[in-house]
Amino acid sequence: MNENRWSTGESCVSWEDAEILYSESFRIVGDDFEHGGEAAAKIKAKLKQFGLDAAIIRRLSIANFEAEMNVIMYAREAEMQLQVLPNAVRVILSDRGQGIPDIEQALQEGYSTATPQMRQRGFGAGLGLPNIKRNTDEFEIVSTPGVGTTLRYTIHLQN
Ligand SMILES: Nc1ncnc2c1ncn2[C@@H]1O[C@H](COP(=O)(O)OP(=O)(O)O)[C@@H](O)[C@H]1O
Ligand SMILES: [Mg+2]
Repeated sequence: MNENRWSTGESCVSWEDAEILYSESFRIVGDDFEHGGEAAAKIKAKLKQFGLDAAIIRRLSIANFEAEMNVIMYAREAEMQLQVLPNAVRVILSDRGQGIPDIEQALQEGYSTATPQMRQRGFGAGLGLPNIKRNTDEFEIVSTPGVGTTLRYTIHLQN
């Protein structure tokens, strides 16, 4: 198995050993455009309930929506797990699907393998992964072609 890996600079540091105050998982089903965005919306509602800073909720929601739609378009199924830590919110999204053969290329603004049908729905601008990168403090992609992709991203809380 050739696993591809990409991450932002100092990442992984705050990912290990952190106390998890709250965790919840949401299932995402490939090709299910009808329910596209529901996992991101549920996480947004939960974080509002927790009283998190609005700017942090907005940034995480943008990342979550982009990541969720990528599962719907490019994978078969996934679990999106929200974790609230003392100093951060983190999402781990593991999918079963085609995987990403060239992550650097996939991260380029404007790069997209979206089909004409997906473009008709308004997707395929090639800005999803760049937007996740821009809106998070730490971001890691691990992907194995033919097996699936795991995204992990974190936004720090300034308590
Ligand atoms: N979960 C995934 N599984 C497989 N390929 C993916 C996944 N997420 C993204 N990709 C690939 O990376 C490309 C860029 O993704 P993105 O920046 O979100 O743009 P877009 O969704 O508009 O194509 C996609 O077109 C696809 O080829
Ligand atoms: Mg996308």
